[in-house]
This record gives sequence, C-alpha cells and structure tokens, in this order.
Amino acid sequence: MDIPFNKPYMTGKELWFLSQAHAKGHLSGDGTFTKNCAAWLEQRIGCRKALLTHSCTAALEMSAILADVKPGDEVIMPSFTFVSTANAFVLRGAVPVFVDIRPDTLNVDETKIEAAITPRTRAIVAVHYAGVGCEMDSIMDIARKHKLLVIEDAAQGIMSAYKGHPLGSIGHMATLSFHETKNLISGEGGALLVNAPQFLERAEIIREKGTNRSQFFRGQVDKYTWVDIGSSYLPGEIIAAFLWAQMEDADAITKRRLDLWKIYHDWFAPLEKAGKVRRPIVPATCQHNAHMYYLLLPDLQRRTEFIAKLKERGIGAVFHYVPLHDSPMGLKHCRASADLPVTREMSDRLVRLPLWLGLEDHMVDTIHQITDTIGSL
Ligand SMILES: Cc1ncc(COP(=O)(O)O)c(C=O)c1O
Repeated sequence: MDIPFNKPYMTGKELWFLSQAHAKGHLSGDGTFTKNCAAWLEQRIGCRKALLTHSCTAALEMSAILADVKPGDEVIMPSFTFVSTANAFVLRGAVPVFVDIRPDTLNVDETKIEAAITPRTRAIVAVHYAGVGCEMDSIMDIARKHKLLVIEDAAQGIMSAYKGHPLGSIGHMATLSFHETKNLISGEGGALLVNAPQFLERAEIIREKGTNRSQFFRGQVDKYTWVDIGSSYLPGEIIAAFLWAQMEDADAITKRRLDLWKIYHDWFAPLEKAGKVRRPIVPATCQHNAHMYYLLLPDLQRRTEFIAKLKERGIGAVFHYVPLHDSPMGLKHCRASADLPVTREMSDRLVRLPLWLGLEDHMVDTIHQITDTIGSL
C-alpha cells in the first residue's frame, strides 16, 4: 500500500526516554514517567485525577466498576461506537441500551436520551466521535435531573474541547486511548480521568488489583492489603516513557493534524456542493483535534466500490463501526431503545481517509486520486 490508512507517528524522542527508563531501573508502573504523564493530563485537561491504564478498554472497565452497576442495570450509549464501550458494562452484568446518533456529528442524539431512561438506568456514556464533542450541556442536565452518572468515552478526544472545556473534564469520569491509531500514542495505552471526588480513592484501588497500595506508599496506611475488587490496570514505565515523548509534542502534533484535516475539508467542498459526498460537520461549540477525516458516500454500494477502487490505487481507506446492536453480542446482551435509522445509515455510508503525520509529502497526489475515484463511481 503506497498510502496506508494509518502510520504511527514518532516524535524522535521516544528511544531517549525509553533509555532513561531503562537506566533508572524502575520498570513497573507509577514511576517518574507515569507521574509526568498523569500530571500533564491533569494540567492540560483539568481533570481531578488522571490514572494511566493499559488501554481505553481497561479504563472503561474501571469506570464500569466505579459506576457500581449491578446485573440488570442499564447504561445508555450509542450503538455507533467501539465494542469496548459496551463490553465494559456487559462484563458487570449490566445492559447497554442504545440510542440513535445525530446526523451531523454522529454523536449520541441527546434529544433521544430521556425516552430511553427507565428505573434501571444508572449511567450515560457520551462517546466523542472523531474527537468532536457530544452536546455535553444537555447530557449533563439530563443526568442531573435523573441522577445518572456521565462517563465520557474520549478515546479519540485528546486535545479537543466543548465550549472551551477540554473533553474528559466534563463528565463524572472519562477515558482516553493512546492506541497507535490515535493522535498521541504508546502502542497500546489509555487513561481513566476522574472528575467526581467520590470516585478518587476507589479508582486508585481498582487499578492496583483491589489493594490500597497507593495509600501505603503515601504513608496513609501502615500496611497494604486487599480491600476491594480490581485488576492490574496500570502500564509499566516503558509505555509511559514512550507516551511522555508524545505528550511533549502534543501541540505540534495536533496542529499538523489540523492542517491535513483542513486540506481535505477545503478540497472536498465542491464535491459536497455537487452532492457527491458529505463532509464532517463540527459545531461552532466544538474545538476538535483532527483525529479523523471521513466522508459520507451516498450509499453502501458506492462506499464499498470507493474503498475497493482506492485499494487498487494503493490508498488505504476503511469503514467504521458495524453498529453494536446488530452484532451477535449486542443481540444477546444489549437493547436498542428504539429503531436506530441514523446509526444504520451512517454506518453504511462512512469511509475514513488516511490521516497521519508524514502524509503532507503525499497530500496532493492522495487528494487527486480520491477525487478521481469519487468521480468514477
Ligand atoms: C470510542 C472508542 N472507545 C474505546 C476504544 C478502545 O480503545 P483501546 O484500543 O485503547 O482499548 C476505541 C478504540 O478505537 C474507541 O474508538
């Protein structure tokens, strides 16, 4: 593939920080690099506490334990999301209840949430698709009114904001991903962000195999022991050292991604006008991070043809999210609150284009090839 869909970006400082972690000889979790990364997240996002994890999946599982959902409890979320959003709650016996998405941002449609609330509803998961914020004011109002928790799945949302508030700072908790397809990466990686004070102490314990080890190291208890359920959710220092190199360059990485995103966006404007494609819509309230550039083709047949033809030209483009409510696990363990026509339609029409740092050198050829391909459908 000449232009792959994704190419992980390295800043050039990763090996230097890895060698420092090696030299220090502290390889397990919560050493200097983990602390640097957590402090950076707390300062940049403004969350009360950031806890690095192995993945966003791990952080979502922690959030489900913290939410204390019981078998049969319900959690509202979009069906247009990654499996981990729902799986984390199914692991606890809870039932994901799917709500349709908005046709503009492809985020959960906040106007459809209240109709999905039942006496068993405990939480809402707001997935910020493509790093564009959900309508958080409405979602937080609904949560307050019905006494529900809000968990932001900000896997794709680092360095984005809603009405000036960084994504991850608004809900009771939030989760981030540093998987190699994301804007800041450590191969696999993630973080749980805690905003509501009542979850601070327990979050640390759950991440440390259900022990109060962190309190012991701070001298708050004289021995540490097993006090709750939990697992081993913390990454080692090697991962954190890699991530630290990325965090140091976060502003430059985001700016370069935004520049690439804008080239696509400006270039495709005439095709949108001609009715050939629909471009992403970013509401004025949202500052996004250029996590993804996607196009909406008119229908499934043309989307399939488009991806196949681009592949022949050596360009990697992919569809995104087979709706969870139609998956074998979705049918068995989850429930759709109503028909989900927008989810179905967008899932059929969406195609993600390559967007990685280094694409700058191939951008002119890439956009011409894509435009040509759209013209030939
Ligand atoms: C919305 C969403 N949530 C969760 C995840 C899982 O992230 P991770 O691979 O870090 O576990 C992803 C991964 O792409 C995602 O897109």
